[in-house]
Amino acid sequence: MSLEIVPSGSDVGAEVKGVDIAEPLAPADLAALEAAFVTHQVLLVRDQPLTPQKFAAFSGQFGHLQRHIQKAFWHPDVPEIVYNRNVDENGKFDEMAARRGVTDNLREGWHSDTNYDEIPAKATSVHAIEVPSRGGATCFASAHRAYDLLPEKVRKRVAGLRVEFALGSNPRNAQAQFLSQKLTDEDQTRAAVSHPVICRHPVSGKAAIYANPLLSVRIPGIDEAESEDLLETLYDCLHAAGGDGYRWEHEWQVGDTIIWENRGGLMHTGRLDYPRDERRIMIRCTIGSSPIVPYNA
Ligand SMILES: [Fe+2]
Repeated sequence: MSLEIVPSGSDVGAEVKGVDIAEPLAPADLAALEAAFVTHQVLLVRDQPLTPQKFAAFSGQFGHLQRHIQKAFWHPDVPEIVYNRNVDENGKFDEMAARRGVTDNLREGWHSDTNYDEIPAKATSVHAIEVPSRGGATCFASAHRAYDLLPEKVRKRVAGLRVEFALGSNPRNAQAQFLSQKLTDEDQTRAAVSHPVICRHPVSGKAAIYANPLLSVRIPGIDEAESEDLLETLYDCLHAAGGDGYRWEHEWQVGDTIIWENRGGLMHTGRLDYPRDERRIMIRCTIGSSPIVPYNA
């Protein structure tokens, strides 16, 4: 079996074939996957059902595993895994859990993960345990393309500016407010952190929009109305980069594993469009840490 990388044909995404991810990766294969990860930003491995322990072991080869802020969803045996699922531990539909990371309005849903941390995660991995009969896809868009779409005047204006992120106290996004319900009091009220509005990918060096509509609160240090205007322009460009022909969208099958980029350059969101009486159960790891560095044009 030899490793093969098959690009999706969209801006981002590739399928990895010819590797058994239930076993430790050979050093050459791991290096090839790390390189493909920079080029394609999202990697998919199909049809390899994993135990939680094997999934965590696979994910841990790309960086140390972080424990997710949503402690209510930690896996009971492997706390480095968090559930993304639409039912509670008794199998009852759980609206709040169902809405984590998914949206019925793509424009408001684009984000990268853990940007409410001073040093966000390098990557996120997700493995599908149960999937609905249709819908529930995860969408991926290039934030590099979004930067390229920004009007020159706006690029100049936001150069050097930072943007604040919060999980528990974001007044701009009702979805984020809703999702903060199960956070501890301490996590709900913790201070916002800031990152560059435009970041530079630490490996490729390419510029990308880092602000996102789910978790960004404001651009500090400028007039509130201008901050709103700039954020809306940035989100228009993100959403355009997530348009048909650019976006890559994956409809999950049981046993699929995806690893996606959080260092800049990629936005994602899930679709909340599947039959509500069907179960959607995923397990997820948060991998590594990578400071967000500003892009200096
Ligand atoms: Fe996410």
